[in-house]
Amino acid sequence: MFYFGVDYYPEQWPEERWPIDAKLMAEAKFNVVRLAEFAWARMEPTEGSFDFEWLDRAIEILGKYDIKIILGTPTASAPPWVMQKSPDLYRVREDGQRVTFGNRRAYCPNQPLYQECVRRIVTAMADHYASHPKVIGWQIDNEFGDRCYCPTCQKKFQEWLRGRYEDLDDLNQKWGTVFWSHTYSDWGEIPTPSATGSSPNPALALDYFRFCSETYVNFQELQVDILKTICPGHFVTHNLMGFGYDRINYFDLGRGLDFVSLDIYPRSQWSTDSCIDPSELALNHATLRGLKKQNFWVMEQQSGAGGWEMISMAPRPGEMRLWAYQSIAHGADGILFFRWRSARYGAEQYWHGLLDHDAYPGRRYDEAKQMGKELQRIGDLIHGSEVRSQVAMILSYDSRFSFEIQPNNPLFSYAQHFKQIYRVFHQGGIPVDIIPPHCDLSPYRLVIAPALHVLPEGCAQALTQYVRAGGTLLVTQRSGVKDEANAIVNQRLPGYLAEVCGVEVVEYDSLSRTRQNRLEFALPEFSGKEMPMVGVLCEILKPTTAKVLACYAEDFYAGKPAITWNRVGKGQAVYAGALGDQSLYGTLISWLLEKIEIKSALAQCEGVEVTERWQEGRQLVFILNHNDCQKTIHLDKSYSNLLNDMTYTGEVQLEPHGVLILTLC
Ligand code: GAL
Repeated sequence: MFYFGVDYYPEQWPEERWPIDAKLMAEAKFNVVRLAEFAWARMEPTEGSFDFEWLDRAIEILGKYDIKIILGTPTASAPPWVMQKSPDLYRVREDGQRVTFGNRRAYCPNQPLYQECVRRIVTAMADHYASHPKVIGWQIDNEFGDRCYCPTCQKKFQEWLRGRYEDLDDLNQKWGTVFWSHTYSDWGEIPTPSATGSSPNPALALDYFRFCSETYVNFQELQVDILKTICPGHFVTHNLMGFGYDRINYFDLGRGLDFVSLDIYPRSQWSTDSCIDPSELALNHATLRGLKKQNFWVMEQQSGAGGWEMISMAPRPGEMRLWAYQSIAHGADGILFFRWRSARYGAEQYWHGLLDHDAYPGRRYDEAKQMGKELQRIGDLIHGSEVRSQVAMILSYDSRFSFEIQPNNPLFSYAQHFKQIYRVFHQGGIPVDIIPPHCDLSPYRLVIAPALHVLPEGCAQALTQYVRAGGTLLVTQRSGVKDEANAIVNQRLPGYLAEVCGVEVVEYDSLSRTRQNRLEFALPEFSGKEMPMVGVLCEILKPTTAKVLACYAEDFYAGKPAITWNRVGKGQAVYAGALGDQSLYGTLISWLLEKIEIKSALAQCEGVEVTERWQEGRQLVFILNHNDCQKTIHLDKSYSNLLNDMTYTGEVQLEPHGVLILTLC
């Protein structure tokens, strides 16, 4: 079943209103609602005394319309009586400050006392709802994140390190603690990176970031275990923040869940730009789909202007529907809007829901209602169909953490670089899987390793074998620089990738905003192509077995290779040693795609996204017009549009923010 619904906080509204809300939801054809996610104080007003009666009544009212329920565990925001138990429960920020009561996510996930409170409320909820006919699943906590640097975390970190290294000598050697006499003679001497000042040992910092990430994985597991034991028939998920969030290894977090869920806010109060880059949204979907290599849900989708202190631009007519179909196009099997009605109180007064504060159903509600009707007809056709990709991009959280610690250049951002490359595929209508460094590469014809900075030897071997067996690999600058301990490899760069790429990095340069370089392509195939600008991080290459694709045009390395192409076994590897402008990746990737004959489903049109899902042998082509004006596309075959059963062929007009879901006639 395709689930479509909304996040609802009945505890924030008078009970007389609940039946009206439920009726409106049912009229919009909602079949699922998420409840209770921040309602700890209402469910356990004092320690150990539980009140689920109000929630039972809310579920009963919704249940009259056969609306199913996802319950949120409320552990992201504990009531004062929990936090009063000990000052240690509060998280310590990187600057050493303990947070105080007033916001949410105030807790340290490693505190046994907090975990005890969590165990109690989650067990009580699970016991109460295990066999409730309307409850189908659980969302754990809310958007895990934020590192804690408290003394408890420090102790836990030291224990974690004992498990990771053979002994202290091993740690001292791998971390290179001989530098500045940091040699540890007792595990208890090891600090958290905040305590060491602004430039900790990169090895210490990387391990701490890994530890913090694992802390949330364990904190989640604590709840998964309870829910899976008591409610074996229910699914368990968590709502993640997509590609943009970089403090948790989401591949690890996804492992213990039945499926992952995404929260997506294209026009939040923090985005000052009125233009939305659809490829950025799509990268969130591709990331979520990649975490478990399976379809995902959207647990929160923006359904009004975002805002805490400020108010963002409202979603334009058609945008909410477009965003929801975009999520579906990329593999979502459930969509919930955040939130039902805009709150009158609290920090999120200006975070608008489907209904405004006054509760009059308006254009945003009507748009959701239109979708509800559509999904009632086509949801089952779409549900469970898969996105198939021949291209994969490697997302390395270790590399991302490492660049957070040492960006190499203030202008370099791993995430921006990743987006640059993803954008080329997105604009070309080529689906991409986002995969972890250790992953089976055999399903892919093309694999991209953007700035794969921390590179375990085993991963490099897998990439080499992949190329030898016929794969195409594109590696970009600053790859293969670090070992797993975040020490620089004792080899010529790109380290373990030097052989497969047939190239060595002789020297590198880190440029400023006002100092750039240009490339000149060396192969005739590129003649007439725009000369890309490069900068920020430029490596001077020396091919060993590779051919030169492009050289620098300026500076003391004018004429020296910047991009190379190596044929190895049955495959090929391109090494791009300079960080380029968008045109560089456009040119390189189109060249590679042409070579290996990967094409998009349809001809491209600016701002019109084309994506496919497959229901076994049946292709569903999603056409999404991200422009706020009409666009014309060309269909060279005859298709039927699932949304209205009309047949389309030849020139087709797309409405502003319009959507088509086509199957071949
Ligand atoms: C999300 C969060 C929601 C709500 C929303 C609007 O990130 O999960 O609980 O806070 O943002 O701010």
